[in-house]
Amino acid sequence: MEKIKVLIDCDTGIDDIVALAYALKTERLDVLGVTTVCGNLPVDITTYNTLNALNLMGRNELPLAKGAAKPLERELWDAAYIHGSNGLGGYEFAEKTSKQPEPQPAHEFLYNMLQAQPEPVTIIALAPLTNIALLLQQHPDAREKIQRIVFMGGSLRTGNPTPVATFNVLADPEAAKYVIATKVPFVMCSLDCTRGSFLTYEDLDKVRALHNPVADMVDKVTGFYLESTKAENTVDGQKKGVDIHDLCTVMYVTHPELFEGEHYFADVETKGELTTGFTLVDFEDNLRKPLEDKTVLFLKKVDREKYVEYFLQVLARYQESGR
Ligand code: RIB
Ligand code: CA
Repeated sequence: MEKIKVLIDCDTGIDDIVALAYALKTERLDVLGVTTVCGNLPVDITTYNTLNALNLMGRNELPLAKGAAKPLERELWDAAYIHGSNGLGGYEFAEKTSKQPEPQPAHEFLYNMLQAQPEPVTIIALAPLTNIALLLQQHPDAREKIQRIVFMGGSLRTGNPTPVATFNVLADPEAAKYVIATKVPFVMCSLDCTRGSFLTYEDLDKVRALHNPVADMVDKVTGFYLESTKAENTVDGQKKGVDIHDLCTVMYVTHPELFEGEHYFADVETKGELTTGFTLVDFEDNLRKPLEDKTVLFLKKVDREKYVEYFLQVLARYQESGR
């Protein structure tokens, strides 16, 4: 099977590093490079975490470029209350890398990487869309070299942390609005979908039983995540486990057959006192937009059993050395 060429933009935090553990080991992806951005934590922390994740996962050959230190227009706020002050729930890398980011900022790195590819490339966006917006603002021709953006965020009628807004949109709503408005093909791996991407306690026992350094990391970071996301992971008084939003997003790229979704017109609220960050998805076609404006593939549901099975299969491939 031909590998899918991807670039990954992340704000490594807990679900980002679990997603990287899968993305950097699956045989279905050819990861060309990684970029970091402010989001869960300030960009210095997300960059440190991502550089060390590459080292832990035996992928030091991959280039990494550091991105935006603040959203397009707003002040930075973070999700340290969910991911912990170091972004990984206190997990510390046994081996600290000396690898440094590429000299150019993330949006320039992305542009250069896209231009160097003969065919359009998928961008997997696991964070606020600040870097992607800067890329498209400063290099509009990049749009022709992006096959699609597969993004974690957006929702039907739910949110985290507000009742209607998801973090990756709320952290930089102007960026999300701009990127979607370019009509670049956009896959919205919604919170409604990723709330079905939970690892149960039994699944986490299977992770723990793998006994390789990457699985051990996943075990530790999800342990913190279980507690910090307890409220949203308790359904009818029962704790279901822990949603791994970013892993679900990467899984769409490698196994789209596990997902249900449809194309709609979408936009982003940036002015609402109560609704900023809300992704308006025109499910009932009220706006009667032309087909060419329905550029967002909204993912609604994932086959959780298969998602967990494929994740565990890949996680088991890390050796004792972690490579
Ligand atoms: O809402 C969850 C998303 O916001 C995930 O990407 C998480 O890492 C945070 O960035
Ligand atoms: Ca993320």
